[in-house]
Amino acid sequence: MAFSFNFDISSQFKQNYNNDTLNEKEEKTNQDTVKNQSQVKETSAPKKVKEAHEHKHAPDLLSHIENSVTETVTVGALPPLLYLNESVFEQTAPERDDAEKVLSQTITQNSDLITGVYEGGLKIWEGTHDLLEYVDDEGETFSGKRVLDLGCGAGLLGILALKRGASKVHFQDYNSTVIEQLTIPNVFLNCEEEGDDEKGGDDDGSPAPKQRSMEKNHALTDRCSFFSGDWVSFLSLIQSQDPTLKYDLIFTSETIYNTDYYPSLHDVFHKLLAEHGLVYLATKSHYFGVGGGLYLFERFVEEKNVFQIKSLRELDQGLKRHIVSLRFKKSPS
Ligand SMILES: C[S@@+](CC[C@H](N)C(=O)[O-])C[C@H]1O[C@@H](n2cnc3c(N)ncnc32)[C@H](O)[C@@H]1O
Repeated sequence: MAFSFNFDISSQFKQNYNNDTLNEKEEKTNQDTVKNQSQVKETSAPKKVKEAHEHKHAPDLLSHIENSVTETVTVGALPPLLYLNESVFEQTAPERDDAEKVLSQTITQNSDLITGVYEGGLKIWEGTHDLLEYVDDEGETFSGKRVLDLGCGAGLLGILALKRGASKVHFQDYNSTVIEQLTIPNVFLNCEEEGDDEKGGDDDGSPAPKQRSMEKNHALTDRCSFFSGDWVSFLSLIQSQDPTLKYDLIFTSETIYNTDYYPSLHDVFHKLLAEHGLVYLATKSHYFGVGGGLYLFERFVEEKNVFQIKSLRELDQGLKRHIVSLRFKKSPS
């Protein structure tokens, strides 16, 4: 069956679609509209719009977080996760090195998303909190696993995996500004925190606490890699670096708002998920003004017939939110 999305996404994208103000009546109307769309067409092959790059660690690890204003999120029994305060970005935007100019544009346009320019990674979306709570409630083992935080933004899900013993954590965000100014600093912030816990003298000739902290930072950060760029070129880059690499776990929070990106997102899952791997996806039912949401994504996945998609949790406060998992129906070819 043909699959076609008839949204004028680019013009609508520019509005702030933070959904807190939307009521359930609007949601129901939109869900009905979405469900009634029978024509869904995957138009052409997904295009590269932002070339992928790997961001190597800065030599001076601690320079990322000097004078930073931090917040902590604590969910149940999970380790506290530190992150840079969002509003500080706004206040200090003019001083920051921002080759993509996303900081200035988000401020002048007062927007959480500018399609193809800035994809929303500078703020922490509700889906990230939902997934943290899910992991806390239901448990998930990370030890020895290869984890991808896809569309990571602040990177809290990947940081949790790192702290919980994942063997490899890859962080991907569309924007290099997000990776450099937020994700990497946040990872270092959390690694430094761990290093600082390690107290003790150095009479026995062992390294001084600061040095041990740095070594521990290295040990943790050696397990991470950071990538910016769109999903089409991210996939090519990863496959060119290591054609055999597969992830045991893929976290992706609030990344299905734009139906144009479904083919490339599905391709990343298809090509990079391990045979028995699992995708955890957090989403809203529907993204007003943008067009995507769970129902359209489910239909897309069902048509592709590669993954089994399963509802894990529904949250009903305000606009309905969901956590779903995807796993291969059968061994990927
Ligand atoms: C709304 S933000 C969510 C950020 C974060 N996951 C959270 O929950 O706070 C959506 C993220 O998806 C990623 N993204 C969206 N479309 C993308 C695309 N076509 N290619 C690469 N990344 C994309 C961006 O990196 C962006 O940070």
